[in-house]
Amino acid sequence: MKFELLTTDPGSKARAGKITTDHGVIETPIFMPVGTVASVKGVHQKELKEDINPDIILGNTYHLYLRPKTEILKKAGGLHKFMNWDRNILTDSGGYQVYSLSARRKIKEEGVKFKSHIDGSYHTFTPENVMEIQRAIGADIIMAFDECTPYPCDYNYAKRSMHMTHRWLDRCINHLEKTPEIYDYKQTFFPIVQGSTYKDLRKQSAEYIANSGAEGNAIGGLSVGEPAEEMYAMTEVVTEILPEDKPRYLMGVGTPINILENIALGIDMFDCVMPTRNGRNGMLFTAHGTINIKNKKWEADFSPIDPEGESFVDSMYSKAYVRHLFSVNEMLGRQIASIHNLSFYLWLVREARKHILAGDFPQWKDKMVKQMDKRL
Ligand code: GUN
Repeated sequence: MKFELLTTDPGSKARAGKITTDHGVIETPIFMPVGTVASVKGVHQKELKEDINPDIILGNTYHLYLRPKTEILKKAGGLHKFMNWDRNILTDSGGYQVYSLSARRKIKEEGVKFKSHIDGSYHTFTPENVMEIQRAIGADIIMAFDECTPYPCDYNYAKRSMHMTHRWLDRCINHLEKTPEIYDYKQTFFPIVQGSTYKDLRKQSAEYIANSGAEGNAIGGLSVGEPAEEMYAMTEVVTEILPEDKPRYLMGVGTPINILENIALGIDMFDCVMPTRNGRNGMLFTAHGTINIKNKKWEADFSPIDPEGESFVDSMYSKAYVRHLFSVNEMLGRQIASIHNLSFYLWLVREARKHILAGDFPQWKDKMVKQMDKRL
Protein backbone atom coordinates (compact mmCIF):
# COMPACT_ATOMS: atom_id res chain seq x y z
CA MET A 1 0.00 0.00 0.00
CA LYS A 2 1.15 3.48 -0.79
CA PHE A 3 -0.14 6.72 0.77
CA GLU A 4 0.50 10.09 -0.82
CA LEU A 5 -0.39 13.17 1.19
CA LEU A 6 -1.37 15.72 -1.45
CA THR A 7 -2.35 18.74 0.69
CA THR A 8 -2.75 19.73 4.31
CA ASP A 9 -5.23 22.56 4.72
CA PRO A 10 -3.48 25.67 6.13
CA GLY A 11 -6.59 26.70 8.12
CA SER A 12 -7.21 23.32 9.82
CA LYS A 13 -5.56 19.91 9.97
CA ALA A 14 -7.65 18.52 7.09
CA ARG A 15 -5.75 16.50 4.53
CA ALA A 16 -6.32 15.33 0.97
CA GLY A 17 -4.49 12.16 0.02
CA LYS A 18 -4.38 9.10 -2.14
CA ILE A 19 -4.01 5.47 -1.05
CA THR A 20 -3.00 2.94 -3.69
CA THR A 21 -3.40 -0.81 -3.17
CA ASP A 22 -3.52 -3.80 -5.51
CA HIS A 23 -7.28 -3.18 -5.84
CA GLY A 24 -6.91 0.43 -6.94
CA VAL A 25 -6.82 4.00 -5.69
CA ILE A 26 -8.69 5.36 -2.65
CA GLU A 27 -8.98 9.13 -2.65
CA THR A 28 -9.03 10.49 0.90
CA PRO A 29 -10.88 11.68 2.89
CA ILE A 30 -13.08 8.66 2.24
CA PHE A 31 -16.27 7.21 3.69
CA MET A 32 -16.43 3.41 3.50
CA PRO A 33 -19.95 1.95 3.17
CA VAL A 34 -20.45 -0.93 5.60
CA GLY A 35 -21.02 -4.35 4.03
CA THR A 36 -21.18 -6.35 7.23
CA VAL A 37 -22.21 -9.75 5.90
CA ALA A 38 -20.75 -9.44 2.38
CA SER A 39 -23.50 -7.06 1.26
CA VAL A 40 -24.06 -3.35 1.64
CA LYS A 41 -27.58 -3.91 2.93
CA GLY A 42 -30.25 -3.50 0.27
CA VAL A 43 -27.87 -2.16 -2.39
CA HIS A 44 -27.02 -4.00 -5.62
CA GLN A 45 -23.37 -4.09 -6.67
CA LYS A 46 -24.40 -2.21 -9.83
CA GLU A 47 -25.91 0.68 -7.83
CA LEU A 48 -23.01 0.64 -5.41
CA LYS A 49 -20.40 0.83 -8.18
CA GLU A 50 -22.08 3.03 -10.73
CA ASP A 51 -24.08 5.34 -8.55
CA ILE A 52 -22.57 5.52 -5.05
CA ASN A 53 -19.12 4.73 -6.44
CA PRO A 54 -16.92 4.23 -3.33
CA ASP A 55 -13.27 3.20 -3.77
CA ILE A 56 -13.54 0.91 -0.73
CA ILE A 57 -16.16 -0.88 1.36
CA LEU A 58 -16.00 -2.55 4.76
CA GLY A 59 -16.68 -6.11 5.90
CA ASN A 60 -16.79 -7.62 9.38
CA THR A 61 -14.67 -10.55 10.55
CA TYR A 62 -17.13 -11.42 13.32
CA HIS A 63 -20.09 -11.81 10.95
CA LEU A 64 -18.20 -13.45 8.07
CA TYR A 65 -16.53 -15.94 10.41
CA LEU A 66 -19.95 -17.01 11.72
CA ARG A 67 -21.63 -16.95 8.29
CA PRO A 68 -20.82 -17.98 5.55
CA LYS A 69 -17.73 -19.14 7.55
CA THR A 70 -14.07 -18.82 6.76
CA GLU A 71 -13.87 -22.09 4.81
CA ILE A 72 -16.51 -21.00 2.29
CA LEU A 73 -14.74 -17.69 1.75
CA LYS A 74 -11.48 -19.54 1.19
CA LYS A 75 -13.17 -21.84 -1.34
CA ALA A 76 -14.64 -18.81 -3.11
CA GLY A 77 -11.13 -17.37 -3.46
CA GLY A 78 -11.73 -14.61 -0.90
CA LEU A 79 -14.42 -12.02 -0.21
CA HIS A 80 -13.78 -9.96 -3.37
CA LYS A 81 -14.63 -12.93 -5.57
CA PHE A 82 -17.44 -14.18 -3.32
CA MET A 83 -19.36 -10.90 -3.55
CA ASN A 84 -18.02 -9.88 -6.99
CA TRP A 85 -16.43 -6.63 -5.76
CA ASP A 86 -13.14 -5.83 -7.48
CA ARG A 87 -12.31 -2.62 -5.62
CA ASN A 88 -10.85 -2.29 -2.11
CA ILE A 89 -12.20 -3.94 1.02
CA LEU A 90 -11.28 -3.34 4.66
CA THR A 91 -12.27 -5.84 7.34
CA ASP A 92 -12.79 -4.92 10.95
CA SER A 93 -11.29 -7.46 13.33
CA GLY A 94 -14.31 -8.34 15.42
CA GLY A 95 -12.84 -6.37 18.33
CA TYR A 96 -15.97 -4.24 18.36
CA GLN A 97 -18.70 -6.66 17.26
CA VAL A 98 -17.74 -9.30 19.80
CA TYR A 99 -18.54 -6.76 22.53
CA SER A 100 -21.59 -5.20 20.95
CA LEU A 101 -23.30 -8.26 19.44
CA SER A 102 -22.38 -11.54 21.04
CA ALA A 103 -24.86 -12.96 23.54
CA ARG A 104 -22.11 -13.44 26.15
CA ARG A 105 -18.35 -12.94 26.26
CA LYS A 106 -15.40 -13.49 28.53
CA ILE A 107 -12.29 -11.41 27.97
CA LYS A 108 -8.95 -12.86 29.01
CA GLU A 109 -5.34 -12.18 28.14
CA GLU A 110 -5.42 -15.10 25.70
CA GLY A 111 -8.45 -13.73 23.83
CA VAL A 112 -12.23 -13.50 23.96
CA LYS A 113 -14.59 -16.42 24.36
CA PHE A 114 -18.02 -15.48 23.06
CA LYS A 115 -21.45 -16.88 22.41
CA SER A 116 -22.78 -16.35 18.89
CA HIS A 117 -25.77 -14.00 18.60
CA ILE A 118 -27.08 -16.31 15.85
CA ASP A 119 -27.23 -19.81 17.32
CA GLY A 120 -25.74 -19.54 20.81
CA SER A 121 -22.63 -21.57 19.88
CA TYR A 122 -19.34 -20.79 21.64
CA HIS A 123 -16.23 -19.48 19.86
CA THR A 124 -12.89 -17.94 20.78
CA PHE A 125 -11.17 -15.03 19.08
CA THR A 126 -7.47 -14.52 19.75
CA PRO A 127 -5.14 -12.03 18.04
CA GLU A 128 -3.65 -15.01 16.19
CA ASN A 129 -6.80 -16.64 14.85
CA VAL A 130 -8.35 -13.27 13.94
CA MET A 131 -5.29 -12.56 11.75
CA GLU A 132 -5.72 -15.96 10.11
CA ILE A 133 -9.42 -15.36 9.49
CA GLN A 134 -8.63 -11.96 7.97
CA ARG A 135 -6.02 -13.59 5.72
CA ALA A 136 -8.71 -16.00 4.51
CA ILE A 137 -11.33 -13.27 3.99
CA GLY A 138 -8.67 -11.45 2.00
CA ALA A 139 -9.46 -7.77 2.55
CA ASP A 140 -6.90 -5.23 1.33
CA ILE A 141 -6.76 -3.60 4.76
CA ILE A 142 -7.04 -5.75 7.88
CA MET A 143 -7.43 -4.54 11.45
CA ALA A 144 -5.75 -5.40 14.74
CA PHE A 145 -7.72 -7.38 17.31
CA ASP A 146 -8.50 -4.93 20.12
CA GLU A 147 -10.88 -4.28 22.98
CA CYS A 148 -13.30 -1.41 22.35
CA THR A 149 -14.12 -0.04 25.80
CA PRO A 150 -17.66 1.16 26.54
CA TYR A 151 -18.64 4.70 27.59
CA PRO A 152 -18.40 5.67 30.33
CA CYS A 153 -15.42 3.56 31.32
CA ASP A 154 -13.65 3.49 34.66
CA TYR A 155 -10.07 4.85 34.37
CA ASN A 156 -8.39 1.74 35.72
CA TYR A 157 -10.37 -0.54 33.43
CA ALA A 158 -9.55 1.67 30.42
CA LYS A 159 -5.86 1.61 31.32
CA ARG A 160 -5.68 -2.16 31.80
CA SER A 161 -7.66 -2.73 28.61
CA MET A 162 -5.43 -0.37 26.60
CA HIS A 163 -2.30 -2.23 27.72
CA MET A 164 -3.91 -5.54 26.78
CA THR A 165 -4.84 -4.12 23.34
CA HIS A 166 -1.16 -3.16 22.95
CA ARG A 167 0.00 -6.66 23.90
CA TRP A 168 -2.58 -8.09 21.48
CA LEU A 169 -1.17 -5.78 18.81
CA ASP A 170 2.30 -7.28 19.24
CA ARG A 171 0.78 -10.75 18.94
CA CYS A 172 -1.10 -9.73 15.75
CA ILE A 173 2.11 -8.40 14.19
CA ASN A 174 4.14 -11.49 15.19
CA HIS A 175 1.52 -13.79 13.79
CA LEU A 176 1.15 -11.91 10.51
CA GLU A 177 4.89 -12.21 9.97
CA LYS A 178 4.51 -15.97 10.15
CA THR A 179 1.39 -16.19 7.97
CA PRO A 180 1.74 -14.75 4.48
CA GLU A 181 -1.12 -13.69 2.23
CA ILE A 182 -3.20 -16.49 0.70
CA TYR A 183 -4.23 -14.63 -2.46
CA ASP A 184 -2.17 -12.91 -5.14
CA TYR A 185 -2.35 -9.35 -3.74
CA LYS A 186 -0.93 -7.59 -0.70
CA GLN A 187 -2.79 -6.98 2.56
CA THR A 188 -2.05 -3.99 4.79
CA PHE A 189 -2.42 -4.10 8.57
CA PHE A 190 -3.72 -1.18 10.69
CA PRO A 191 -3.31 -1.08 14.50
CA ILE A 192 -5.94 0.65 16.66
CA VAL A 193 -5.52 3.37 19.31
CA GLN A 194 -7.69 2.90 22.43
CA GLY A 195 -7.74 4.70 25.81
CA SER A 196 -11.41 5.60 26.26
CA THR A 197 -11.98 9.31 26.97
CA TYR A 198 -8.76 9.86 28.96
CA LYS A 199 -6.27 12.17 27.31
CA ASP A 200 -3.21 10.67 29.02
CA LEU A 201 -4.22 7.15 27.95
CA ARG A 202 -5.01 8.27 24.41
CA LYS A 203 -1.55 9.88 24.23
CA GLN A 204 0.16 6.74 25.50
CA SER A 205 -1.79 4.55 23.14
CA ALA A 206 -1.15 6.81 20.12
CA GLU A 207 2.59 6.69 20.89
CA TYR A 208 2.54 2.90 21.14
CA ILE A 209 0.59 2.57 17.90
CA ALA A 210 2.79 5.13 16.07
CA ASN A 211 5.87 3.16 17.15
CA SER A 212 4.53 -0.06 15.66
CA GLY A 213 5.49 1.31 12.24
CA ALA A 214 2.30 0.20 10.47
CA GLU A 215 1.35 1.59 7.06
CA GLY A 216 -1.85 3.15 8.42
CA ASN A 217 -3.36 3.73 11.85
CA ALA A 218 -6.84 3.64 13.32
CA ILE A 219 -8.61 5.19 16.29
CA GLY A 220 -11.19 3.04 18.07
CA GLY A 221 -13.32 3.29 21.18
CA LEU A 222 -15.11 6.45 20.06
CA SER A 223 -18.70 7.12 19.01
CA VAL A 224 -19.78 4.74 21.76
CA GLY A 225 -22.11 7.22 23.48
CA GLU A 226 -19.73 10.00 24.56
CA PRO A 227 -20.63 13.64 23.76
CA ALA A 228 -19.30 14.78 20.36
CA GLU A 229 -17.00 17.31 22.06
CA GLU A 230 -15.25 14.50 23.96
CA MET A 231 -14.82 12.55 20.74
CA TYR A 232 -13.25 15.57 19.02
CA ALA A 233 -10.95 16.18 22.00
CA MET A 234 -9.68 12.57 21.78
CA THR A 235 -9.22 12.74 18.00
CA GLU A 236 -7.22 15.92 18.44
CA VAL A 237 -4.87 14.40 21.03
CA VAL A 238 -4.29 11.33 18.88
CA THR A 239 -3.81 13.02 15.48
CA GLU A 240 -1.11 15.21 17.08
CA ILE A 241 0.90 12.02 17.63
CA LEU A 242 0.08 9.65 14.75
CA PRO A 243 2.52 9.99 11.83
CA GLU A 244 1.51 12.47 9.15
CA ASP A 245 2.63 10.32 6.27
CA LYS A 246 0.25 7.46 7.07
CA PRO A 247 -3.54 7.38 6.65
CA ARG A 248 -5.66 7.76 9.80
CA TYR A 249 -8.93 5.88 10.17
CA LEU A 250 -11.56 6.84 12.76
CA MET A 251 -13.66 3.74 13.33
CA GLY A 252 -17.47 3.79 13.45
CA VAL A 253 -17.94 7.56 12.98
CA GLY A 254 -20.48 9.02 12.44
CA THR A 255 -23.04 11.70 11.54
CA PRO A 256 -22.28 13.96 8.56
CA ILE A 257 -21.31 16.71 11.05
CA ASN A 258 -19.00 14.33 13.02
CA ILE A 259 -17.30 13.43 9.75
CA LEU A 260 -16.59 17.03 8.73
CA GLU A 261 -15.36 17.97 12.22
CA ASN A 262 -13.02 14.97 12.30
CA ILE A 263 -11.73 15.67 8.78
CA ALA A 264 -10.79 19.11 10.14
CA LEU A 265 -8.80 17.32 12.88
CA GLY A 266 -6.79 15.26 10.39
CA ILE A 267 -8.80 12.05 9.85
CA ASP A 268 -8.68 10.44 6.39
CA MET A 269 -10.99 7.41 6.61
CA PHE A 270 -14.43 6.76 8.11
CA ASP A 271 -17.06 4.03 8.26
CA CYS A 272 -20.45 3.93 9.91
CA VAL A 273 -23.72 2.00 9.68
CA MET A 274 -25.69 5.24 10.02
CA PRO A 275 -26.48 5.92 6.34
CA THR A 276 -27.90 2.42 5.86
CA ARG A 277 -29.28 1.67 9.35
CA ASN A 278 -30.92 5.08 9.83
CA GLY A 279 -32.00 5.00 6.20
CA ARG A 280 -33.89 1.77 6.85
CA ASN A 281 -35.70 3.66 9.62
CA GLY A 282 -36.72 6.49 7.31
CA MET A 283 -34.00 9.03 8.08
CA LEU A 284 -32.62 10.85 5.04
CA PHE A 285 -29.47 12.97 5.40
CA THR A 286 -29.22 16.02 3.13
CA ALA A 287 -26.99 19.08 2.79
CA HIS A 288 -29.77 21.14 4.39
CA GLY A 289 -30.61 18.89 7.33
CA THR A 290 -32.20 15.57 8.21
CA ILE A 291 -35.58 14.40 6.95
CA ASN A 292 -37.78 11.88 8.75
CA ILE A 293 -39.54 10.63 5.65
CA LYS A 294 -42.18 8.80 7.74
CA ASN A 295 -43.50 12.17 8.95
CA LYS A 296 -47.08 13.08 7.93
CA LYS A 297 -45.72 16.41 6.71
CA TRP A 298 -44.42 14.72 3.51
CA GLU A 299 -47.72 12.98 2.70
CA ALA A 300 -48.51 15.22 -0.28
CA ASP A 301 -45.05 16.68 -0.99
CA PHE A 302 -44.39 15.61 -4.57
CA SER A 303 -40.99 17.29 -4.81
CA PRO A 304 -37.95 15.03 -5.38
CA ILE A 305 -36.43 13.52 -2.21
CA ASP A 306 -33.25 15.60 -2.68
CA PRO A 307 -33.21 18.01 -5.65
CA GLU A 308 -29.48 18.64 -5.10
CA GLY A 309 -28.60 14.96 -4.70
CA GLU A 310 -26.36 13.15 -7.18
CA SER A 311 -27.99 9.74 -7.03
CA PHE A 312 -30.65 8.59 -9.49
CA VAL A 313 -33.06 8.00 -6.59
CA ASP A 314 -32.85 11.68 -5.59
CA SER A 315 -34.68 12.91 -8.67
CA MET A 316 -36.56 9.73 -9.58
CA TYR A 317 -38.72 9.51 -6.47
CA SER A 318 -40.80 12.09 -4.56
CA LYS A 319 -40.93 12.53 -0.80
CA ALA A 320 -44.64 11.62 -0.82
CA TYR A 321 -43.89 8.38 -2.70
CA VAL A 322 -41.04 7.31 -0.42
CA ARG A 323 -43.16 8.18 2.63
CA HIS A 324 -45.87 5.96 1.21
CA LEU A 325 -43.39 3.09 0.70
CA PHE A 326 -42.37 3.37 4.36
CA SER A 327 -45.97 3.53 5.55
CA VAL A 328 -46.84 0.29 3.73
CA ASN A 329 -43.53 -1.25 4.83
CA GLU A 330 -42.36 -1.81 1.26
CA MET A 331 -38.69 -2.83 1.05
CA LEU A 332 -38.14 -0.49 -1.90
CA GLY A 333 -38.47 2.45 0.52
CA ARG A 334 -35.61 1.16 2.64
CA GLN A 335 -33.51 0.57 -0.47
CA ILE A 336 -34.13 4.08 -1.80
CA ALA A 337 -33.23 5.62 1.56
CA SER A 338 -30.02 3.55 1.81
CA ILE A 339 -28.90 4.49 -1.70
CA HIS A 340 -29.70 8.15 -1.10
CA ASN A 341 -27.83 8.28 2.23
CA LEU A 342 -24.73 6.47 0.99
CA SER A 343 -24.64 8.64 -2.08
CA PHE A 344 -24.91 11.72 0.17
CA TYR A 345 -22.09 10.56 2.48
CA LEU A 346 -19.82 9.91 -0.52
CA TRP A 347 -20.73 13.28 -2.03
CA LEU A 348 -19.91 14.94 1.32
CA VAL A 349 -16.38 13.50 1.57
CA ARG A 350 -15.67 14.15 -2.11
CA GLU A 351 -16.80 17.74 -1.68
CA ALA A 352 -14.62 18.04 1.46
CA ARG A 353 -11.65 16.80 -0.58
CA LYS A 354 -12.33 19.36 -3.31
CA HIS A 355 -12.40 22.16 -0.76
CA ILE A 356 -9.21 20.94 0.96
CA LEU A 357 -7.47 20.97 -2.42
CA ALA A 358 -8.95 24.39 -3.25
CA GLY A 359 -7.82 25.84 0.11
CA ASP A 360 -11.23 26.94 1.46
CA PHE A 361 -12.14 23.89 3.58
CA PRO A 362 -12.71 25.64 6.97
CA GLN A 363 -15.21 28.17 5.57
CA TRP A 364 -17.06 25.47 3.61
CA LYS A 365 -17.06 23.13 6.63
CA ASP A 366 -18.52 25.79 8.96
CA LYS A 367 -21.25 26.60 6.45
CA MET A 368 -22.12 22.92 5.95
CA VAL A 369 -22.17 22.14 9.68
CA LYS A 370 -24.63 24.98 10.26
CA GLN A 371 -26.74 23.95 7.28
CA MET A 372 -26.88 20.25 8.17
CA ASP A 373 -27.68 20.79 11.85
CA LYS A 374 -31.44 20.93 11.18
CA ARG A 375 -34.47 18.66 11.21
CA LEU A 376 -36.55 19.33 8.11
N1 GUN B 1 -15.51 0.02 15.27
C1 GUN B 1 -15.87 1.12 15.96
N2 GUN B 1 -15.07 1.25 17.05
C2 GUN B 1 -14.20 0.23 17.03
C3 GUN B 1 -13.13 -0.18 17.90
O1 GUN B 1 -12.83 0.44 18.92
N3 GUN B 1 -12.45 -1.32 17.55
C4 GUN B 1 -12.78 -2.04 16.43
N4 GUN B 1 -12.07 -3.13 16.15
N5 GUN B 1 -13.77 -1.67 15.62
C5 GUN B 1 -14.47 -0.56 15.91
